Parts: sequence; C-alpha cells; structure tokens
Amino acid sequence: MDGPIGMFDSGFGGLTVARAAIDLLPAEDLVYIGDTGRYPYGSKPLGDVRGFARELAHSLVDDYGAKVIVVACNTATAAGLDDLRAELGVPVIDVIRPGVSALVQTTTTGRVGVIGTVGTVSSGAYVHAIAATGAPVILTSAACPGFVEFVERGQTVGDEVTVLAERLLAPIRDADVDALLLGCTHYPFLARTIGDVMGNGVTLVSSADETAFSLKQTLGDLGLLRAVDRRGHRRFVSSGDIDLFRELGCQLLGPELDRTESWPPPR
Ligand code: DGL
Repeated sequence: MDGPIGMFDSGFGGLTVARAAIDLLPAEDLVYIGDTGRYPYGSKPLGDVRGFARELAHSLVDDYGAKVIVVACNTATAAGLDDLRAELGVPVIDVIRPGVSALVQTTTTGRVGVIGTVGTVSSGAYVHAIAATGAPVILTSAACPGFVEFVERGQTVGDEVTVLAERLLAPIRDADVDALLLGCTHYPFLARTIGDVMGNGVTLVSSADETAFSLKQTLGDLGLLRAVDRRGHRRFVSSGDIDLFRELGCQLLGPELDRTESWPPPR
C-alpha cells in the first residue's frame, strides 16, 4: 500500500498519463521514468523495446519499490505486456485496453481510427484489442512517424507539424471516421493540430484518463489505495539529459515536474 505507482515511457509522452493519474489520485506517490536516452521506441524492433520495458519495469519494482506498474507507452505495451505480467510480482496496467474501451464507447457511426507508432500499428495490437471487445466497428489505422520527434523537441504546433499531420492523417480522413484514438501517449500534445486536420466531426480519444481510471480501480480492488489525507510525492527520472527533461517536462506536465533524477539510479 505504501509503495509508489511506477510508470514509464520512452520519453515525454507518458506524462499525459502521469497528469491524469496525479489529478485522479493526488495522494499517491509516483515514480516516472522517461527513457529519453533510448527514445524513440516506435521505429525500433519490438524485441529491443521489450528488453527496455522489462529493464525499466523491474527497476521500478526493485529500485523504487513500485506497488503497481503503468506502462504509459503503447509501443512498449504492444511489445512486452505479456512478459511483464508474467514476470513482475505486482499488477501491470497498460494503455491499449483502456484506450480501446473509450474508443468503442465514443463512436456512434462505428467507423473508428487509431494512430500510433510504426511499432504499435504493425504489431496488430489494436486490431486484436478491438476484436476482443466484440464491438461492431470498422477500424482504419495509420502509423505517424515523425509525430513523436516533434513532441520530444517541444514543437507541438506550427506549419511543419500541420503539413506532416495532413499527409499522415489522409487515410483516416478518407475513411470518414467519427472517433480517432491517439494510440501513442505523445500524441495528446499534438491534439490541437490533429483536431484541426481531422475537423469538427471527429472526436479525439486519449487513453490517459481511461488508464488512470483503470489504475484507480485496480488499486482499489487490491486494497492498495493510499488514504486521501496526504499529497503524494512525485519523482521524475530520465535516462537522458535530466536538465532538458526538467525544462520541457515542466512545460508539458506542469509545475509538479520541478526536479529530475538520473536513471539508472546509483546503487
Ligand atoms: N509514447 C510511446 C507510445 O505510446 C512511443 C514513443 C516512441 O516512439 O518512442 O507508443
């Protein structure tokens, strides 16, 4: 009950999930690792990403005492969720199933879209997750290489982002969807541009809030929720440049990200 929530992503993207978790569970402690030293995950072989995910998740449990792991990265979920669930002695929450459940509840026409990294889309993880819901929807997916790099540079709006978005989102627009799932945790930072390109008739769905609800439910079911009369302690850790992680991270997440530490931790 006393350990922190352990959360990781390749970089800044998982901060969208961290924001939702902090807001929903303000009493909980949190340790977030951004693997900026090895980002991006989306263009790497899934076997490599699986190795990174295992290393980070085991470190969150062994080095930081995490009581639960949130894989705040779709690519790492697609690559390694089953291994993590089999290996770790703590519950593991992912972003794909909660995102899909929000998507199928949002659509009214049954024509839905998912965008993600090359690794996530080519893994077929979303096709399987949507099929598992049994919802009668028609899915169109598109990989969006380049989106993550814009976010990691802190460039979330502007002509270059718009031009790339218009090109990559064309197949989704042509499919006439009414709901689009942002199947990469970096993409909510580009929501302004993605929303403008898709137009008013398309609802953008982020997995962040739904993942936080799933986290709260799991902790509650297992009797692992903290009493609410405290403010959680949050630690932000990066495998890359920790000064850059603090500067850009603070702009993206908010004032909670005022200190950063290096990963791996000194042993
Ligand atoms: N944020 C990660 C995801 O949700 C991927 C970013 C990357 O390519 O490193 O898939």
